[in-house]
Amino acid sequence: MAAENIETIVSLAKRRGFVFPASDIYGGLGSSWDYGQLGVELANNIKKSWWNWLVYERDDIEGIDSSIIQNRLVWKYSGHEDTFSDPLVDCRECNARLRQDKLEFETDASGTVKYECSNCGSTNLTEPRDFNLMFRTTLGAASSDEDPMALAYLRPETAQGIFINFANVLNTSRRKLPFGIAQIGKSFRNEVTPGNFIFRTREFEQMEMEYFCRPEDAPQLLEDWIANFQNWFASIGISAENLKLYEQTADELAHYAARTVDILYRFFPEREDEVKQFDELMGIANRTDFDLKTHSKKPEDAEGRRLNIDSTEDLSYFDEATKQRFYPYVIEPAVGVNRTLLAVLMDAYTEKINDKGEKRVILKLKPELAPIKVAVLPLAKNNSEIVEMARKIKKNLQPAMRAVYDDTGGIGKLYARQDEIGTPFCVTIDHESLQDNAATVRDRDTWEQERINVNELKSHLQKRLL
Ligand code: GAP
Repeated sequence: MAAENIETIVSLAKRRGFVFPASDIYGGLGSSWDYGQLGVELANNIKKSWWNWLVYERDDIEGIDSSIIQNRLVWKYSGHEDTFSDPLVDCRECNARLRQDKLEFETDASGTVKYECSNCGSTNLTEPRDFNLMFRTTLGAASSDEDPMALAYLRPETAQGIFINFANVLNTSRRKLPFGIAQIGKSFRNEVTPGNFIFRTREFEQMEMEYFCRPEDAPQLLEDWIANFQNWFASIGISAENLKLYEQTADELAHYAARTVDILYRFFPEREDEVKQFDELMGIANRTDFDLKTHSKKPEDAEGRRLNIDSTEDLSYFDEATKQRFYPYVIEPAVGVNRTLLAVLMDAYTEKINDKGEKRVILKLKPELAPIKVAVLPLAKNNSEIVEMARKIKKNLQPAMRAVYDDTGGIGKLYARQDEIGTPFCVTIDHESLQDNAATVRDRDTWEQERINVNELKSHLQKRLL
């Protein structure tokens, strides 16, 4: 089972402390969201899973953390200043501001394409104009907004921080091709039409990896990384049936890409048209040697055209074996933390009827991702011995796993609360525990219970959390 729509997740997320609307007490700020006490744990666990898998479990990937604000020239040479824009149109009837490339259209008998406003259906729209998505800022105390010397951008992708550090990492890590550089961090885009909860926001977090390789290996590596990511998504609980591959068309490709395959997730299961149920979770692109070349110091090309006169570095690679120098190709799997978190929540969402006929929500998160691994619950909160024993057990478990103590309700309510936030295990302490030094371990998914000696509790849970 999975959530039937994003709204179900929005309400759960707010009710239980995963995600709150940002600036809520001031009326909010369109499409901005804050992660609450459980959301931050879930996001951190997703990032940890990605990082462990790529940087620790493999032998060919290094991690970095580059600045959000870089020299403006980075964005000039990356092509973002010139091309990172959306075609913006205004509806003359209802004044809606829209992205033309997302609108429905018709072609009339004369071959003229007419776009229809997604708000009111009118075709009375302005001509499209390019709207650059990069957030601008100014550097330094004396700068004015119009001062071109002080102009800077918030990065719209983390990737450029990797490309401009290619030589630094290569020289200090003594890597040979193929190898990758991974990075997790915030990116910013002044989206024209943000929306659908955390699916499209102006501030978001990316997990990007640039895998540098020989040009001839790039096509196969792109296929390999698609398969790798399908496996990673399965490992964090995203069902294969809710994923789909999409080959970007020539019109859709970013200016740097020779080929891009998106992995789509069924974010909108309520939509009638099955194609429209799916939208982008991540992209895997063959960026060729575009980025390393464009950032390389190059006074002029063969025809005498001046290319990059600002860079101080040549980002080519010298192959010791063949004694050849060339620009590596790059395969880039780029995935959003926020969209992954949304997909994980949607997939984990389950409803179950208890023996009293009441509906219960269970978040069947993979234990690795669950914000809280175990809740320790005393069955009699007025019995000081039971309370003391429960608190002691919580304290003993805490260094090994995220554990909480809760005595703020009846046991049924406490179980339901933990099920709804995806806690894999509840441990209850009762009168018998004082006699036999054992506790009841309750499984979130099956609701089955098992009696475990307290001395073995930590290792028992650790095994089941793997
Ligand atoms: N470096 C390549 C790159 O940035 P992208 O397809 O524009 O490619 C990669 O972004 C991923 O980042 C997307 O697949 C999505 O998961 C996430 N992403 C992009 N824009 C986003 C936004 N406005 N809000 C939330 N996530 C976004």
